[in-house]
Amino acid sequence: MSSISGQPIGVFDSGIGGLTVAHAIRSVLPHESMIYFGDLAHLPYGDKSEAAIQAYSIRITDILLKKGCKVIVIACNSASSAAYELLKEYVRKDTHIINVIDPMVEFVLENFPGKEVGLIGTKRTVQSDVYARKIREGKKNIRLRSVATPLLAPMIEEGFFNNQISHEIIAQYLSDAVLAKIEVLILACTHYPLIKKEIDSFYQGKMRILDSAEIVANALKKYLEEEGLLNRQTTPQHHFLVSDYTASFEAAARMFFHETIQLERHPLWN
Ligand code: DGL
Repeated sequence: MSSISGQPIGVFDSGIGGLTVAHAIRSVLPHESMIYFGDLAHLPYGDKSEAAIQAYSIRITDILLKKGCKVIVIACNSASSAAYELLKEYVRKDTHIINVIDPMVEFVLENFPGKEVGLIGTKRTVQSDVYARKIREGKKNIRLRSVATPLLAPMIEEGFFNNQISHEIIAQYLSDAVLAKIEVLILACTHYPLIKKEIDSFYQGKMRILDSAEIVANALKKYLEEEGLLNRQTTPQHHFLVSDYTASFEAAARMFFHETIQLERHPLWN
């Protein structure tokens, strides 16, 4: 077994959204340790320029590499669309990077050929056109209909959901004519699983809603298995680093990890 198999998995997002992915990773890979980085000082990523997100992502990757992560998961669609290609180049010899977009695209190509597929995500993700391009390249005659929903991530980050106002914001976005004929909906932001029930009730339980958490966790498992990097020795430990402290992040991390979590403030730049 490789000596690095006992090293942690690095996971990062702008805030609490990536916790949906980290949670799925813990279920699928219960023996793995994780270091989670929430860039709370710079959220939301969805409204930032590509260059800004690339700079944050490189810096976070450096921090996770210094902590010895054996693989890094970009648990954020905005960062995956803005910085994945750059990060892949950047870490080429040091580690492997997994993004949240490719596993979802693969899943959609395999399961929904010929369908009209809806997508909601941040402005950064939707404007990047990455999903549309990758789905087109898969040549499965899928028609992708995307709508940017920029209010949702900050709303969720504030713990503001399951109430009348969140219902109305969600309904307003999902009523967009662009989504009128979709047969399945991709939640292209890792924050959105936290409002999946509200989205489901907007569609009265009749829409297939896809979130990337489990799909990405399974892609990670496959990679670790293939590379002989599964941790079989050490007891897992999870660490949470944040570039700024917020009570809502701590509450969300406790909700997902049901344990005394170690939360450490780690600015991106000193
Ligand atoms: N959770 C992230 C995503 O998947 C980022 C949301 C944000 O910070 O705008 O896009």
